[in-house]
Amino acid sequence: MKNLRIKEILQLTPQCQEVEARGWVRTKRDTKNVCFFELNDGSCLENLQVVIDKNRVNLEKEIHRMNTGASVIVRGKLAPSPGKEQSSELSAENLTVVGEAEPDYPLQKKRHTFEFLREIAHLRPRTNTFGAIARVRNTAGMAIHSFFQERGFIYLHSPIITASDCEGAGEMFQITTLPLENPPTVDGKIDFTQDFFGKRTSLTVSGQLEAEIYASALGNVYTFGPTFRAENSNTSRHLAEFWMIEPEMAFCDINCNMDIAESFLKHILKEILEKAREDMEFFDKRIKPGLIDGLQAVASSTFARITYTEAIEHLNRAEENFEFPTEWGCDLQSEHEKYLTEKVFNGPVIVTDYPKEIKAFYMKLNDDEKTVRAMDVLVPRIGEIIGGSERESDFNTLKRRIAECGLRVEDYWWYLDLRRYGSVPHSGFGLGFERFIQWVTGMQNIRDVIPFPRTVKLAEF
Ligand code: 4AD
Ligand code: MG
Repeated sequence: MKNLRIKEILQLTPQCQEVEARGWVRTKRDTKNVCFFELNDGSCLENLQVVIDKNRVNLEKEIHRMNTGASVIVRGKLAPSPGKEQSSELSAENLTVVGEAEPDYPLQKKRHTFEFLREIAHLRPRTNTFGAIARVRNTAGMAIHSFFQERGFIYLHSPIITASDCEGAGEMFQITTLPLENPPTVDGKIDFTQDFFGKRTSLTVSGQLEAEIYASALGNVYTFGPTFRAENSNTSRHLAEFWMIEPEMAFCDINCNMDIAESFLKHILKEILEKAREDMEFFDKRIKPGLIDGLQAVASSTFARITYTEAIEHLNRAEENFEFPTEWGCDLQSEHEKYLTEKVFNGPVIVTDYPKEIKAFYMKLNDDEKTVRAMDVLVPRIGEIIGGSERESDFNTLKRRIAECGLRVEDYWWYLDLRRYGSVPHSGFGLGFERFIQWVTGMQNIRDVIPFPRTVKLAEF
């Protein structure tokens, strides 16, 4: 008797092998002589079809208790299936209902909207779509590690609690142990010296600054962890808690940075298309027709590379009426990013050299003193998926930029020290994991590609 996952059972040749399967019942069809049910255990998209020949085995009591959603253990023999849907089916000898499902189980046969499923985030992983997303996330996570590990990068665990604002945008969730209803004050201001860390602290928006520290010692490093942003943007591509992958490379300029970002994305795409084939075919069929062909084309393409100034020229030549302005100096909005990737280049585009006013303090200033060595990777349907840059490695320029950006130079003393002791040209970028998963699965809303979304006014589970 083999105790296998359904994925393995479905790969066996159906020659009367005895197997035991455990999982949750998706559907049941019960007639006088025979009962069919579909069993899923999350190991793959496909269900195991189980047949109970009522004239041969007496399992009437268990069949009666086994509703949609129940957990069961079933034993029997694998046989070729007469149906077209699957190659083999399990002919049950024995059935145990481990946990019954009450009749109000919400995931009955009909298809539910993603909005409804968001309200039952504790049950939605039992649907085809959310099971597939979980498996694709897993495959993508492993592919990310394999890309860096094969290239000698060190996996770095950057802190979640931080005293600095990496993006300088002030969109941080503060953490404190001070009593909120009556915090201690001096001169009318909250006295953070009495707080747990003796100063103001927050949840990190990025592990980049710490990655720069380790890149300045180990050469090439990457982080892969949760990041938090208190942006008040209620869009289909923003989360308050999301996962980010941030490589940082010493002795690497913006061109080297772009090369790594491009081969990185292609590597994960190829791995997913190969290792999560069944799930990707499901997304292609049910969520976004043409998805696989599109991603395959990207995986073997060369990404377009343009400057921000050229991007603005493209937008100003466009016949489209954009909602947001396209003057030099304005930030690119989602509609502009989609226009560039979908209408102009029909594929990913890397945009470089943005105006310094719309980018973070740490980006290397170009000789024109107007633009910085930023590089954003934009992809069709999503827009910005990666944000990165070459970093300012000159002490005086960096100090000036920190002050110009309205930040307190003394808070960044250790960051400036890296420019005093053996500074090197270095670069890095951040890939938003959920934006990436959105892109490869074709899912419309970012809330549906993370197990438990946190967004404005939403943190239920
Ligand atoms: O462009 P961002 O803000 O860059 C950084 O944080 C840099 N420190 C990265 C680096 O150079 N090491 O964010 C990087 C990516 C974005 O391109 C986007 O994919 C994702 O993170 N992202 C979000 N994803 C979901 N929800 C949000 N609120 C996001 N904000 C950024
Ligand atoms: Mg960005």
